[in-house]
Amino acid sequence: MRVLAVGGAGTIGRRLVPALRSRGHEVVVAGRESGDVHVDLASPGTVEDMYHAVGAVDGVVSIAAHGALDEFGSLTSAELRENMRAKFFGQVDLVLAGQRHCADGASFTLTSGIFADEAWPGVTGGAVINAALHGFVLSAAVELPRGMRINAVSPTMIGDSVAVFVDHFPGMRPVPMDELIGHYLHCVEGGDTGHIIRAYG
Ligand SMILES: NC(=O)c1ccc[n+]([C@@H]2O[C@H](COP(=O)([O-])OP(=O)(O)OC[C@H]3O[C@@H](n4cnc5c(N)ncnc54)[C@H](OP(=O)(O)O)[C@@H]3O)[C@@H](O)[C@H]2O)c1
Repeated sequence: MRVLAVGGAGTIGRRLVPALRSRGHEVVVAGRESGDVHVDLASPGTVEDMYHAVGAVDGVVSIAAHGALDEFGSLTSAELRENMRAKFFGQVDLVLAGQRHCADGASFTLTSGIFADEAWPGVTGGAVINAALHGFVLSAAVELPRGMRINAVSPTMIGDSVAVFVDHFPGMRPVPMDELIGHYLHCVEGGDTGHIIRAYG
């Protein structure tokens, strides 16, 4: 298959892209600065440009763009909207534009996260983004044309990221990277659609 990996140079992508290639897939990596083609999920026009540059693909995997931490006492709806721009609306744009550009039967695999299901301090934006992504995936699964599929992988803190996040989320049990990569591969290669894969360790 020909697979577009948006964020393929990041922490998850660095493990996922070689795994896809080792299974015989051709992988095109996209990022703002990194990768073979450039895109900014916060800028919808660049998503359309990316699809024109890449041509038809059989799978799109998005492992890019975090939600930002926030302070609930001073949080504004404008800050929430800004926080949603890349990770929520950017991934939505990958699908809404992608349905016109991707091959018949193509799959979309988005990334959400545990804050959709588990409340932690400082991540109201993350909770809203991830829960909204889950709703979008359910709806898109029944709307997508030409046999296209869509799923989301919802990770908890990842084993490879413990050093980065442990101070913010003490006691959160990480998911091993190998297990997580297996979920992405299943989304790309399997036949499921409308699934939210909760990789919570
Ligand atoms: N790491 C974790 O523990 C963890 C846990 C739960 C969920 N997640 C989610 O998993 C996804 C990937 O996480 P990660 O830790 O692998 O991220 P990461 O290491 O920060 O890598 C992100 C990748 O995406 C690209 N990127 C960032 N912002 C972008 C944008 N606006 N448009 C296009 N590309 C962009 C970056 O490249 P450029 O800088 O070149 O753009 C980079 O290659 C995120 O949605 C994150 O919230 C991660």
